[in-house]
Amino acid sequence: MKKFSVLFLRSLFVFILLKSVHIAPAQVLPGEVWRDNRGQQIQAHGGGILHWKGAYYWVGEDRTPSNDPEKRYVACYSTKDLVHWAFRGQILVLADPEHLGSHWVLERPKLFHNARTGKFVLYFHLDDARYKLARVGVAVSDRIDGSYAYVKSFRPLDQESRDIGQFIDDDGAAYLIFESRPTKGFFIARLSDDYMSVDKQISFIPAPLEGGALVHYDGLYYVLGSHMTGWRPNPNVYATAPSLSGPWREFKDIAPPEVNTYQGQSTMLLKIVGSKETSVIFMGDIWNPMALWDSRYLWMPVQIGNGELRLPSPNPWLLNVKIGSTTTLIHDVPSKDDRGHR
Ligand code: DGJ
Repeated sequence: MKKFSVLFLRSLFVFILLKSVHIAPAQVLPGEVWRDNRGQQIQAHGGGILHWKGAYYWVGEDRTPSNDPEKRYVACYSTKDLVHWAFRGQILVLADPEHLGSHWVLERPKLFHNARTGKFVLYFHLDDARYKLARVGVAVSDRIDGSYAYVKSFRPLDQESRDIGQFIDDDGAAYLIFESRPTKGFFIARLSDDYMSVDKQISFIPAPLEGGALVHYDGLYYVLGSHMTGWRPNPNVYATAPSLSGPWREFKDIAPPEVNTYQGQSTMLLKIVGSKETSVIFMGDIWNPMALWDSRYLWMPVQIGNGELRLPSPNPWLLNVKIGSTTTLIHDVPSKDDRGHR
């Protein structure tokens, strides 16, 4: 009888332990290797997220070393919790579409869904090895996870366009953010009704920034970007405006400038609207130019509100998508400059 009780208690303990491991909330680990459901390192660099039918779809540059070096690849992953990502495939596998020559460039893919046409529209920066073409490329698919067919390339608003970003406003309107070197700034432009081109300039922000990202939070627009230092990190900055068309206030650092955005570069600001809270996630890339496939992701919830935005130092964090709350497991000591941030 005693032996049975010991065995029973031991089994009960193991069961509770396994159960607690199973239900333990999963964490985002900024800067660590992030693996998909196959155990492979996620390839979604310079990426973007589309929230569609209750799931999140992450698309980005797939730099897998075994890819055909003549082609460029965009991979797609899906999730409901923003932590566990299922590989959905290489949704775009593209051979040089415009006679761009060796080392041609496809960067920063961003995905939109057009409710009117039902099509999924993929934008990306398309260029030659010297970054002289400066266009966007467009590919479409009837299914979110592809495969996507290349349609065309163009210069939005007839401007040179390199880094692109995506933004969907609360009213569902879709915008492309693009950096334009000759004008020394970047544009926010509304997509046409079918999303196949760019309709209208909404704002030109005279700040030469790339990795442009936008979020609409608590009645204010926050735009964010990095300075231009190639693959090397720099202090990313943000500005606010009451309307997308401006006026934009002066740019401020998102973190102490000496930390260089914790080695990351912005690619998107993701807003999670839950039942109780709204959180904003800074999505950035920690580039490894010698092995781009091994570039890591710097995702952190930002402290945002009242016109202020701050990127905290990278630490493990949890997200409750339903409630919309994030919990950072280790906090940095607030500095004097942090007063006023929420
Ligand atoms: C910085 C851009 O943000 C990246 O997407 C990439 O184009 C590198 N420059 C190339 O140096």
